[in-house]
Amino acid sequence: MIKVFTGLNQILTLSEAQRKDGRNLLPEDLSLVTQGSVVFDENSILWVGEQKSIPLEYQSAKTFDLSGHVLTPEIVDSHTHLVFGGDRAQEYADRLNGKSYEEIAKRGGGILLTMNQTNSASLEILFNEACSRIERIHSYGIGTIEIKSGYGLNFDKEFQISLLIDRLKKQFAPRIQILNTFLAAHDVPKSFGTSAQYLSQVVLPLLEKLAPLKIIDAVDIFHEKNYFTENDVKMLFEKAQSLKIACKSHADELNDNDGATLASSYYALSADHLLKISDSGIKNLSESSTVATLLPGTAFFLGKPLAPARKMLDARVKVAIASDYNPGSCHCDNLLLIASISAAQLKINQAELWCGITLNAAHALGLKNQGAIVVGMKPRFSLFKTESLSHITYNWGRNFSVSLP
Ligand code: NIG
Ligand code: FE
Repeated sequence: MIKVFTGLNQILTLSEAQRKDGRNLLPEDLSLVTQGSVVFDENSILWVGEQKSIPLEYQSAKTFDLSGHVLTPEIVDSHTHLVFGGDRAQEYADRLNGKSYEEIAKRGGGILLTMNQTNSASLEILFNEACSRIERIHSYGIGTIEIKSGYGLNFDKEFQISLLIDRLKKQFAPRIQILNTFLAAHDVPKSFGTSAQYLSQVVLPLLEKLAPLKIIDAVDIFHEKNYFTENDVKMLFEKAQSLKIACKSHADELNDNDGATLASSYYALSADHLLKISDSGIKNLSESSTVATLLPGTAFFLGKPLAPARKMLDARVKVAIASDYNPGSCHCDNLLLIASISAAQLKINQAELWCGITLNAAHALGLKNQGAIVVGMKPRFSLFKTESLSHITYNWGRNFSVSLP
């Protein structure tokens, strides 16, 4: 059925940003339409422009008056770890009282504590808690959500969590689009001597078992000192490529280990975090299609300096912003809040901000057919009841999102 949204105060089309592949954006690349209309069917956007110019053929289609609203391409959270048991409130308190994330992890806290809590929770509890988290995220206007496995850290539980994410995907489609990322290489349980042993005994065989089910959208790995090595990354990415599964990595977060360069050499969809990225890492990303996904909520919550966003953007790197929502390093599920707070710190302009949570975030998930309100793209939108695009992030922490009619 053809639908028409009309009377919109503003439509953020990002048509110019799309033409420029999400790079080198100027403020005017928001490509805003005021008093706008958009025409679409189930599969694609058919027309977008000023309300007064709607083609005659669409004037009798089902029309929704959305005056007083702003329409944007659907907001995408391209990096979350929202399937977990328990919480790490005590570690948060310990961090405020002077312990670092790394110290806490070394004494058995961190990801391994959540692993224990996740393994003690039933699959039904994990599923139900994930459902409420997804609904809450969606209530902010976020419609595509990537979810990583990675708190089971044994063959059976990781297998079940990947299936659980697939169940979530089916339960919420098409209203909320979920992407399933395999992150069994998130940490190394203490029962394994080395990361290489855990990788060869659990991660790689499990990926082989999951691949024929066709439920995994990408693999990911925590490429970091005391977690997984360069060689581990190569082993995982080569296996993923042989199975035709896309790659992503947690790179250059706590230390620079040329993680961004390694990820881009495997045509990874994204390299995420990048607090410590080197100049050569930036150069390699800029020459690749790998998206630099910034997770400013994490740096902010851990009290660390943010990633060098301006330097990356000026080098023509394609930059996205995501929440990293997880129980430890960023216990915040609201990407719009994170983007609002961090924009000035990251020194990004408004087009870079919005493109980072829509078009480029979609690219970080390999989704090339959404993220701009342009003819032919998928009709995935976010709708806000407020005066203008600026009002959405200017009122940081306030929620203007409303359901699409
Ligand atoms: O992206 N770095 C690895 N994973 C998460 C942290 C997960 C946790 O602390 O539980 C991250 O920050
Ligand atoms: Fe993460």
